[in-house]
Amino acid sequence: MWKGRFAKDTSTLVQDFGESISYDWRLYPHDVAGSIAHARAQLNAGLLNDEEFSQIEKGLREIEVDIREGRFEFRTSLEDIHMNIEAELTKRIGAAGGKLHTARSRNDQVATDTRLYCRTQIDSMLEAITALQNVLLDQSDKNAAAVMPGYTHLQRGQPVTVGHHLLAYVEMLERDKGRMADCRKRLNVSPLGSGALAGSTINLDREAIAKELGFDGITHNSMDAIADRDYIAELLFAISMMGVHLSRLSEDLILWCSSEFGFVTLSDEHTTGSSLMPQKKNPDVCEITRGKTGRLVGNLMNLLVAMKGLPITYNRDLQEDKPPLFDSVDTILLVLAVNTEMIGAMEMRQDRCLAAASDPMLLATDLADALVKSGVPFRSAHELVGKAVAESVESGVPLDELDLEKIDEAYTPEMKSVFSLQTALAARTNTGAPSIENVKREVERWRACL
Ligand code: ARG
Repeated sequence: MWKGRFAKDTSTLVQDFGESISYDWRLYPHDVAGSIAHARAQLNAGLLNDEEFSQIEKGLREIEVDIREGRFEFRTSLEDIHMNIEAELTKRIGAAGGKLHTARSRNDQVATDTRLYCRTQIDSMLEAITALQNVLLDQSDKNAAAVMPGYTHLQRGQPVTVGHHLLAYVEMLERDKGRMADCRKRLNVSPLGSGALAGSTINLDREAIAKELGFDGITHNSMDAIADRDYIAELLFAISMMGVHLSRLSEDLILWCSSEFGFVTLSDEHTTGSSLMPQKKNPDVCEITRGKTGRLVGNLMNLLVAMKGLPITYNRDLQEDKPPLFDSVDTILLVLAVNTEMIGAMEMRQDRCLAAASDPMLLATDLADALVKSGVPFRSAHELVGKAVAESVESGVPLDELDLEKIDEAYTPEMKSVFSLQTALAARTNTGAPSIENVKREVERWRACL
């Protein structure tokens, strides 16, 4: 493509070093769409005649089909998807193919292609996240009234329900969707027309190109449009954050399916055995989800570090944006699909959850609240209950069986009524708190939202 200036061919080693076709071939549908929109603008500007435009459009469509059906032969010597397609087009249709690159550079072309790719993938991810939210919602519905301990520091804290616990992840995933949708809005502008870095002396109708490609508008500074990959970094962050959320969910499930907790049974289909220990049933899906999160975060770091020292505008380093982008998108889509299947099929063991929540210590805070309601300042109430807890630990008498009035006269016999999980949950009626009614209402709210 640049033979005019050079006397020797690029060495094979440099070709292998610099090629991106082995991975950016995936941009082909976007590259074709971008080229057709660009060619139409050339037609409308009088740079192509009808015949030339039709040849280009038809040629590009045929190339697209050939690539999709695995018939296209990519050449490393042609470096990337843009040059592979253009060279093949010219081979197929002749002179008109040589006109396509008028008023365009691979720099605005690749920025366009990656924006279109991100947009398409965001739409797939949004759908996949909603599917996962839906199975979490089904489980929350089934387990809306299933009492379990809520933990801080992985120590039993206060009673909640399984539904409430799982709905926490529905919330997190909704924010993940919000981040993606936000990123989509910001990236959905067309860089075409920015050229190599300084636009072109041949002015095509940028707005018309943008419209044809489904962009909401056009970029307003050619240098920025060529140089920045912030939209990819944003997306990689949104994916990483979601990965972190799913990694924490995995960790919960890993704990829950241990013998020590025994809160959940994962299906045989979503667990693996041991080649040595016949009794094992391992939560590999959760562990791999947790493990892959490292990769997602790594991909974000990869891009940020690659960009940080680059003078604007385009530098070839930017070609390294695509492997982390593709890897994160592929990874998270797989993570979402497998987790949706696994969570949809898991069975919560409500009896085990309830047994773990039946430790009266979980209601120590409620006892302090009862003292507060009778006029004791919270700090004093906390200390009084602390004393009762210490005595229970020392004597081995459960907290709800202690003679509280002996510990302090602030205690009254009615205060013992706090030692009921049903009462404890029923009292938690404020928005966001885990009363069973609230959890059921939240399930309904989410059903309507999703
Ligand atoms: N394959 C290149 C990339 O992904 C396309 C842009 C090449 N531009 C250039 N000036 N060499 O970044």
